[in-house]
Amino acid sequence: MAKIGDRVPSVTFRTRKDGDWLDVTSAELFDGKTVVLFSLPGAFTPTCSSTHLPGFMTLSGAIKEAGVDSIICLSVNDGFVMSAWAKDQMVEDEVIMLPDGNGDFTDGMGMLVDKRDLGFGPRSWRYAAVIANGVVEKLFEEDRTAPGDPFEVSDAQTVLTYLEGRAKDAA
Ligand code: BEZ
Repeated sequence: MAKIGDRVPSVTFRTRKDGDWLDVTSAELFDGKTVVLFSLPGAFTPTCSSTHLPGFMTLSGAIKEAGVDSIICLSVNDGFVMSAWAKDQMVEDEVIMLPDGNGDFTDGMGMLVDKRDLGFGPRSWRYAAVIANGVVEKLFEEDRTAPGDPFEVSDAQTVLTYLEGRAKDAA
């Protein structure tokens, strides 16, 4: 599992843009930037669609005002699914929708979990992270010992509260 101070995995993400493939690298996403990444078990799933993603969309302005350059929503889904979910959720440019279809980034973060019981296969555990210049600064990882799909600490408000404290400390 990723620890504070770890560098994020070096991965090429195969995204879809305007009907074509667009490869995006970890370096392009993270180098020289402060990034909030949140990761969830699946596009179009209930909590992810009703709460996790919309929470970050709603608070995206405040999160960026607190010193964040970009917000990434990651899921172990392919680029077509992530694009369709972004359209369905009316995501514009406030959140980058990042498909980790092979699970390589998620595996490198130590966050790949087996959801075979749901017919999902390997997916991401639910977490959020503040990543500064490609290095994990803070992790908000849901409790792996809790039953089901806990959603207590990786929400947008919890991340924003941390960022506001960080901005105050830096002032
Ligand atoms: C949910 O977001 O509610 C969910 C995620 C994974 C499996 C089932 C439900």
